Amino acid sequence: MQCPGRLAGSLLLASLCFCLIPQFITALEILRTFREPEDRPFQRLAVHPRTGDVYVGGTDRLHRLGSDLSLLQSAATGPREDNPDCPPPLLPCDLPRVNTPALTKALLVDGQKDVVVLCTSLFHGQCQTLRGSNITLSTGFSTQPVVPNDAASSCVIFLKPGEDAGSSPQVLYVGAEYSSLGNRKYRDLVPSLSRRLLPSLELAYRDADGSSRLTVLPEQRENFKIEFVYGFHHEGFAYFLTTQPKSKQSSQVVTRLARICEADNYFRSYVEIPLECGDAGVVSDFIARAAAVTADRESLVVSFSSQGSKKSSKVCNFSIEDLNVAFNTTVEDCYSGRGHVGPQHYHKRQGCKQTVSYSSCIKIKRLIYLLFVLFLSVSP
Ligand SMILES: *[C@@H]1O[C@H](CO)[C@@H](O)[C@H](O)[C@H]1NC(C)=O
Ligand SMILES: *[C@@H]1O[C@H](CO)[C@@H](O)[C@H](O)[C@H]1NC(C)=O
Ligand SMILES: *[C@@H]1O[C@H](CO)[C@@H](O)[C@H](O)[C@H]1NC(C)=O
Repeated sequence: MQCPGRLAGSLLLASLCFCLIPQFITALEILRTFREPEDRPFQRLAVHPRTGDVYVGGTDRLHRLGSDLSLLQSAATGPREDNPDCPPPLLPCDLPRVNTPALTKALLVDGQKDVVVLCTSLFHGQCQTLRGSNITLSTGFSTQPVVPNDAASSCVIFLKPGEDAGSSPQVLYVGAEYSSLGNRKYRDLVPSLSRRLLPSLELAYRDADGSSRLTVLPEQRENFKIEFVYGFHHEGFAYFLTTQPKSKQSSQVVTRLARICEADNYFRSYVEIPLECGDAGVVSDFIARAAAVTADRESLVVSFSSQGSKKSSKVCNFSIEDLNVAFNTTVEDCYSGRGHVGPQHYHKRQGCKQTVSYSSCIKIKRLIYLLFVLFLSVSP
């Protein structure tokens, strides 16, 4: 503490406050710097959990830096000949394709399998897998678009963690906001939620009854924008933290946490609950801006900011156990006839029907052909 020693008594107390606050917000010392060689903008960053290598995705470049931020390797991700009104690559197009920069939309590193997943804005939002130790080596490329292709729309990608390096294929979850760029026919190819396999990036499951994805109903896609803030996998479930309109008719934006059973190939176990960081019963305009799961994987920490003119922010810590209780209650309420099957943007609205009780994801899997009440949302 830098307080001058000659101050005494209450004066010292007063000055302590002045000393403490500046110390708390002192600028940190910068240990090392990496400057983009061509001064391109950066969009995404990921750190290899084992080697500490830093992967930085920017406009037209992916860099791999050592843990000391020395440049190890760079890969050119763009520009490429593209046109958002043309179909995805390899299909012919009558319109001219022009040199288009690649914005990095999503980037993750799986330390255990030496895999980098990179998604860019090119070709309607394509993803590819690269070797973590050699980012110029591509190991898979999505044949269909996966993420939004415009600069503004959000997306999250995450893996089921803790998989050993065994033979089971890795599973990737994607949450993608509906893009506003290009021919709608091709924008419609990107699901709102999907589960994919690595390295192929194809949908994890598909048969005559459905597939491992959810798409917003066609008539709502342009207006019902779901912003993806964060996504994580936790003990048999995938969770997506979003901000979205309160309802189809509403212009109010609210925070929702959605959950899907890992064992559910058709995403029929989708359940969402509202998430608020404030006093119960008090209407607030705070929405989630960022989140992380704690190291013990027991809590979800979320930062919220006010949308109104009065700028204010706060952080809330939620126990994942409590969140699961809320999800369970929503499911049980539906099974006892309270609430709505939906949500309205993914599924036509229907009342919950009284039916057999929910017990586990495994049971959901078995009952899946009998029940259509598994799309749930809480009543507004
Ligand atoms: C990375 O892979 C490419 C393509 O196979 C190869 O030509 C190159 O030598 C590799 N680089 C390193 C550093 O291993
Ligand atoms: C969040 O709350 C849990 C208890 O529910 C606690 O164990 C944990 O330390 C808290 N985490 C943070 C970051 O405050
Ligand atoms: C939710 O319900 C399932 C099935 O009844 C149960 O196994 C699980 O422990 C419940 N979770 C919580 C947090 O209550």
